[in-house]
Amino acid sequence: MCGIVGYIGNIPAKGLLIEGLKRLEYRGYDSAGIAVLGDQGLDVERAVGRVANLEAKLESRTGFDGTLGIAHTRWATHGAVTETNCHPHTDNAGNICLVHNGIIENYAALRTVLGERGHEFRTETDTEVLACLIAELYEGDLESAVKAALKEVTGAYAIAVLCTQEPDVLVCARKGGPLMVGVGSGEYVVASDPSAIVAHTNRAFALDDYNVVRLTRDSIRTSTIHNKAVTPQMLQLNSELGQVELGSFDHYMQKEIFEQPRALRTTLRGRVDRDEGRIVLGGLLSHAKELVRARKFIMTGQGTALHAGMIGEYLFEDLAKIPTEVEYASEFRYRNPIVEEGTVVCAISQSGETADTLAALEEAKDKGALALGVVNSVGSSISRNTDAGVYLRVGPEIGVASTKAFTGQVAVLTMMALFLGRRRLTSVEKTKHMIAELESVPDKIEIVLEQADRIKAVTEKYVQRENWLFMGRGYNYPTALEGALKLKEISYIHAEGMPAAEMKHGPIALINDGMPAVFIANRGAQYTKVLANIEEVRARGGHIIAVATEGDKEIEQVAHDVLWVPEVAEPLSPLLTVVPLQLMAYYAAVLRGHDVDKPRNLAKSVTVE
Ligand code: G6P
Repeated sequence: MCGIVGYIGNIPAKGLLIEGLKRLEYRGYDSAGIAVLGDQGLDVERAVGRVANLEAKLESRTGFDGTLGIAHTRWATHGAVTETNCHPHTDNAGNICLVHNGIIENYAALRTVLGERGHEFRTETDTEVLACLIAELYEGDLESAVKAALKEVTGAYAIAVLCTQEPDVLVCARKGGPLMVGVGSGEYVVASDPSAIVAHTNRAFALDDYNVVRLTRDSIRTSTIHNKAVTPQMLQLNSELGQVELGSFDHYMQKEIFEQPRALRTTLRGRVDRDEGRIVLGGLLSHAKELVRARKFIMTGQGTALHAGMIGEYLFEDLAKIPTEVEYASEFRYRNPIVEEGTVVCAISQSGETADTLAALEEAKDKGALALGVVNSVGSSISRNTDAGVYLRVGPEIGVASTKAFTGQVAVLTMMALFLGRRRLTSVEKTKHMIAELESVPDKIEIVLEQADRIKAVTEKYVQRENWLFMGRGYNYPTALEGALKLKEISYIHAEGMPAAEMKHGPIALINDGMPAVFIANRGAQYTKVLANIEEVRARGGHIIAVATEGDKEIEQVAHDVLWVPEVAEPLSPLLTVVPLQLMAYYAAVLRGHDVDKPRNLAKSVTVE
C-alpha cells in the first residue's frame, strides 16, 4: 500500500529517497513521486508505474539538489492512477507540499469549504485537500498549521509535509497509518516501513496516533496535535530488514516458501521443551493466569492471517478446550460485538499494521477484552497496542502473497493452544507427544519441498483453466481457503475455497469436464467423508488434485493427481498441506507470466480500511 519516505540531513535527499522508495516497492503501489526543497526552491516529479519510471524521468531534470525532501509510492484510493493524482501534492501557491498515506474521510466537505474560499483543485485526491487546508491555516509556522489542519480532519493518515517558507523543517504526523522516524547524526529518515530506514540508522521510534514530529537538521520535537509534549520510545531496528536478498531464487515468494523449514525452527527455538512437556512463551507469562482462566477467545485478522486464525479456532477448542470464535477484523469492529468478562481477543497479523485488525483490537480493548498479538513485525502498531503476545520470528516477508508468515502464525497458535491446554487439562505425556510432532514439522516441510518439480508439472496441466475449487474439512477447511486465496492473488485465476461438504449446496453446479478440484485429503478424522466428496466431483467430470498422506493407496484410485505430505498429528496437518498449495499458486503465476512479487492491485500491508 502507499509508502512514505522523508529525509532531512546533510546529504543530497534525491538518491536516498529513491532508494527508500525501492525498498517500499514490495508493499504494492501504482505510481510514485518525489519533492526536494533546496536553495533553488521546490522541485517535484511524479510518474505512473514503477519507481524506475520516476528515476528515468529525473535523469532529464535539473534541480533536486537539496538535502530535504519527501517521496511516495501511491496505491490509488481516491482518483484514478494518473500522474496528476500522484503524490506529492501542493496547495495552489505551491507553498505547502505533502505526501499522505491513508484516507481523509471528510475530504468532500473540506473540499467544498476550501473551494468557497478560493482554492482550486487539480486532482481527484483527498490529499490535495489536506495540502490546501494546511495552506489556509498557515500563519508562518508549519507545525502549528499541520496541527490545526489535523484537528479538522477525520479518517486515517500518515503525512510528511514541507513548506517553501521554512526550508529547514520537515513535519510529520500520524493517526492510523504507520510512520517511523530514524534518528541519525544530524539527519533524520522518516518512513512508513522500517525497511527504508535501516540502511541509514538502526535507531528509530514509531510515531503514535495524533503525534506530530517537527524535525530540523539539529533538533527534534514530538508532541500531540493538542500540543502536549511526547517523549518517544527509541527502538533498535533489526538490520536484517535492510538485507533481504533473493540469493539463488527468482522471486521473494519462492524464497519464502522454501525458507519455511528454517523459519519455523526459529519460531519454535527455545519455546518448546519436549523432555519436560513444557511450552515457554515469554510474551504471555505476565498474563498467564488471566489466559488460563479465559472463558472465550476471539481470533481476528484479515486475509491469510484470518485463515491462520480459523485454524487457531480448531486448535484452541481441540487442544485447550477454550470456546473460540474467529472473525474478520473489518466485521468485528463495526458490529458492536459483545465482549463478556474473560474474553481474550487475539489479533493475527504479519505486518502488525493492517488498519482493520488494529481497529478491531482497539474496539475489543475498549470493551474490556485482554488483547493478544500474534505478529511478525517487531515494534509494529499492533504489537505496541496489545497486553501480551508472541512474535512469529520468521524474518521479513517481502512477497505480497503471504507464505512463511502463515505457517509461522499457525505454529505460534499451536504453541499457544498447547501452553493453555497443558495448564488447563492436558497431560504431560500428551503435550510431550504434540511437541515432538511440532518439532518434526520443519523436516517434513523439507520433504514436501523436494517435490517442487512434480508440483510444477501438475500445475502446468491445469494452468489454462480459469476456475478452480479448493476443498477440505476440519483443520484443512481453512487450508482450502488459503490455497484458493494464494492462487487468485498471484495468478489471477478464479478460485473458491470451501468446506468439502458445502460443495453440494451450490458450487457443484460449476463443475464441468476437466475443472480442477483440489482436495485436501490427508488421513484425518474426516478422511472417508472427503473421499465421498471426491467421488461426487469425479462423477461430474471434475479433475481431482489431492493433497494426501504418503503411502495412501486408496487416494490413488480416485485422484487424477496426488501431491504427497508426510504423516503428522492431525492438528498440525495444515502446516504441511498448505505447502503444495503455495507452490501450485507460485508456479501457476510463473507459468502465466505474472510478476509474482508485485501482483496487480494488491498491497502487502493494507493500512486503510
Ligand atoms: C494483505 C496482504 C495479505 C495479508 C493481509 C493481512 O491483504 O496482501 O497477504 O494476509 O493483508 O495482512 P497482515 O499484515 O495483517 O497479516
